[in-house]
Amino acid sequence: MTSQIMPTYGRLPVTFSHGKGAWLWDDNNKRYLDAVSGIAVCSLGHAHPAVAKALRQQSKTLIHTSNLYHVAAQEQLAMVLTAKSGMDNVFFANSGAEANEAAIKLARYYGQQRDIKKPEIIVMEKSFHGRTLATLSATGNPKVQKGFEPLVSGFIRVPFNDIAAIEQAIAQHKNCVAILVEPIQGEGGVNIPAADYLNKIRTLCDEHQLLMMLDEIQTGIGRTGKFLAYQHNGILPDVCTLAKALGNGVPIGACLARGTAAQLFSPGMHGSTFGGNPLACSAALAVLATLDKKDLLYQAQRKGQQIVDAFSSALKDQPAVVEIRHQGLMIGIELAQPCANLVAAALEQGLLINVTNEKVIRLLPPLIIKPKQIDFLVSTLSTLIQKHSQPQSLL
Ligand SMILES: Cc1ncc(COP(=O)(O)O)c(C=O)c1O
Repeated sequence: MTSQIMPTYGRLPVTFSHGKGAWLWDDNNKRYLDAVSGIAVCSLGHAHPAVAKALRQQSKTLIHTSNLYHVAAQEQLAMVLTAKSGMDNVFFANSGAEANEAAIKLARYYGQQRDIKKPEIIVMEKSFHGRTLATLSATGNPKVQKGFEPLVSGFIRVPFNDIAAIEQAIAQHKNCVAILVEPIQGEGGVNIPAADYLNKIRTLCDEHQLLMMLDEIQTGIGRTGKFLAYQHNGILPDVCTLAKALGNGVPIGACLARGTAAQLFSPGMHGSTFGGNPLACSAALAVLATLDKKDLLYQAQRKGQQIVDAFSSALKDQPAVVEIRHQGLMIGIELAQPCANLVAAALEQGLLINVTNEKVIRLLPPLIIKPKQIDFLVSTLSTLIQKHSQPQSLL
């Protein structure tokens, strides 16, 4: 197939024409169960009526004005987000990378205000924060960075889930102003840290006057069974970034701040033409209202456990399975050998899955997934894993 699109993606040979709930249909009308949700985006499923209605109504009155003026839907969304998160205020962007750019700028400005001329941010190995220059520099994956040097400076990298390494970095780098971390690493392989990891980071940030910045772009908006993953820990960060599921597919990103971090930006310091426009905000408001109405946080916890229990039992005698880990509906099945070929095999069976970090099957099903769909997911994927794991792989 010839295409006028820059070849930045290795695409699977399928084009979807429409969707409903957890199902997608391709242009030959073949049906697929979507256990990826557009990489943690369509958590309410496809063609959700509340989102469609909000978009329809908003587009009939006003799609965009500009941040030169007050935007009512933006004010409303900021009120809901701050109430749900415990944060003080919000900057709206259009994507995850842009939300993180805002966070990185906040951290640098926080440093400059304290007379630190070359502020540095502690970031993690195997992290993923986006593809813009600053966020790819913060990302802990050389493949994402290769060829785009010189990278943006000012990042200190330490292993994930290693408090001693952070303590050492703080001791060695007097210019340290912030720690940026994902509560669970998504692209890095669904890596779940120790239960008190975030609490210990919070303590270190308090002791050393560092901003605690959580990238909740993948973990946020109910994915892990709480509205935000840090709510499992009973702490508050200073900065938190969101995108992905916030608009259920309508592009919107947000950088939330609290306390000192919420007082840093003033007019002219940051901006975005589209950020927080009426259309995107009305979609996000519909998403947040639906999460509450349908008790979807509880559903994410319950269904996540159910899926993992079912996989654990179906795969219990399978030595190729190294570990099944999850929080809510963010699920990783780590195999002993690379398994990227499972994605195409599952596609053939009418199932969308993802593989990350070579050996980890990542499942991010919509929060509205139904019991029969869970059965289909578990039986189809377990069979594929069993075939894949035979000495002479049958795939
Ligand atoms: C944790 C995390 N941060 C940032 C990003 C970048 O978001 P976007 O692709 O919307 O720029 C992603 C995307 O996968 C992500 O998972």
